[in-house]
Amino acid sequence: MAERGVSKESKADRVERIKREKDGLDVWDDILRYSKLGHDAIDPEDFERFKWYGVYRQKPNDGHFMVRLRVPNGVLQAHQLALIAEMTDRFARGYGDITTRQNIQLHWLTIEDIPYLLSRYHGVGLTTMAACGDDPRNVVGCPVHGVDCGELVDARPLLDDVNRLYVGNREFSNLPRKFKVSISGCGVRCAQPEINDIGISAVRRARAAGDEIGYEVAVGGGLSTVPRLATRLEAFLTAEQVRPVCGAIASIFREYGDRTKRTRARMKFLVEQWGGDRFLDEIQDRVDFAIDRDVPPLPELPVDRDHIGVHPQRQEGYHYVGLASRFGRLTGAQMRDVAAIARELGDGTVRLTNNQNLIVTGVLTANVDEVVRRASNTLLPADADVWQRNFVACTGTQFCNLAITATKEAPGAESPAEHALNALQERLGHFKEFVRINYNGCPNSCGQHWVADVGLQGVLLKAANGEQVEGALVTVGGGLGSESGFGRNIGVRLPLTEVPEALVRLFSAYEEHGAEDDSFRSWCQRTSDEALGHYLRGEALQPVDAG
Ligand code: HEM
Ligand code: SF4
Repeated sequence: MAERGVSKESKADRVERIKREKDGLDVWDDILRYSKLGHDAIDPEDFERFKWYGVYRQKPNDGHFMVRLRVPNGVLQAHQLALIAEMTDRFARGYGDITTRQNIQLHWLTIEDIPYLLSRYHGVGLTTMAACGDDPRNVVGCPVHGVDCGELVDARPLLDDVNRLYVGNREFSNLPRKFKVSISGCGVRCAQPEINDIGISAVRRARAAGDEIGYEVAVGGGLSTVPRLATRLEAFLTAEQVRPVCGAIASIFREYGDRTKRTRARMKFLVEQWGGDRFLDEIQDRVDFAIDRDVPPLPELPVDRDHIGVHPQRQEGYHYVGLASRFGRLTGAQMRDVAAIARELGDGTVRLTNNQNLIVTGVLTANVDEVVRRASNTLLPADADVWQRNFVACTGTQFCNLAITATKEAPGAESPAEHALNALQERLGHFKEFVRINYNGCPNSCGQHWVADVGLQGVLLKAANGEQVEGALVTVGGGLGSESGFGRNIGVRLPLTEVPEALVRLFSAYEEHGAEDDSFRSWCQRTSDEALGHYLRGEALQPVDAG
């Protein structure tokens, strides 16, 4: 063990030392050893390294773990999902969560269970490697690649190639911080390139000899407490150039990322400091081809799209069917049912979305109704209302050590997210506009509240009697797409118990006061903080429209 000075080691120094002393990828033998010796034998510093195998301590750190899969592009085969269902019932108390990076994570694992779980995962070609930790995380992409009618190109082979470059590669297993990559070939970009460290998106460029499809690159996006939209580089890449560029960017981050402060270590801070031009020059120095700098203007992008419901595929006679979960929480039985639907009525594939939903692809037109019926029976409706299909929630105090408030589950009380969703469904069931509501238990934004129409960020409030109560800070008007922007803090903090009614009032006010051509987002943008606050709080003051 390295010598430590008299001064107290900072959090960043501690993590850096732990990574230097033993690479996270080398902790596997220790996991096997601890599984025989038991939880008490675990060296606390190895908890940090466990993350390199997707293993994270679960609140209240009493010997249970969360284990996150790595599901590139969110694509699972039916037999893989069936295996996850079996593991869910056997080890995870019957439920698991779809995450906002197209993964599935299970809770309640003990150290004794983990080698068996991971070996069963490996047996069906699944891995948890680099699902957590300071390394390249799951590579996300378009969940309807290869079947979407509007896609420019199927980028899945590229995504797999980049994933192979990163996973288990010791060149990238000690990065300054987590590193998130999105690669997609569709024109809608629901794979959120704007909030990833690298966002690779297909783009069309007009040329005299005919249009060319290539890839543009954005770097330095991320959420957390200091959200930043990725900087679009002046680069137009061919498919073959994407992998070396992704390698070059990860190596730049490895060498120049700030390892002295965990809160400043993400690549977005480096990009902010350098700017796009210097960053691109640095990439150029590391690849053996000249980067074409003639990138076309940013295409028009819809604000969002979620793929729920029945959609025709590029392949005539086939449809894909998007199924809405409730905040990504699935029971083992639901996983098993969807796996069976995909195997019996689809092409055997289930895809996970960053809205915590699922898609069954390759459904013959004649089988669509049966898929919809069976999915509805297992409470994953294809015809879900706008509230359910776009309601995202992070883990919260149920399992997360950083959480301030509950989100999906509040032991002994009604789930705050369920409560809010139920109120909107019951009272505003007729609402049709695409709006995202994202519930987070703290400012880290795992549940992406910054890019929601209404974001709810967990905070503690002081009640009139002096007691602390769980509450939410409300942000409004965030979104991705052509007019990407983060939600505006309108200075409203509400006790969690008041959030459902407040949301109903806010959306009712929009219905009443919004102009014909308003979207909820544009209405929020032109309405003052004060007026929005009045709507949310239900105060009897006369609201003032700013627009
Ligand atoms: C054990 C519970 C968890 C812990 C302790 C945790 C920790 C964190 C932390 C500290 C951040 C901020 C990172 C930064 O500084 O950039 C973060 C961001 C994030 N996490 Fe988690 N997380 C947990 C669960 C989850 C879950 C369940 C999901 C998926 C639903 C998730 C996905 C994300 C995403 C998408 C972000 C923000 C994205 C970004 O910064 O680019 N995390 N998490
Ligand atoms: S947003 Fe906060 S509370 Fe929610 S999972 Fe992330 S770190 Fe935990």
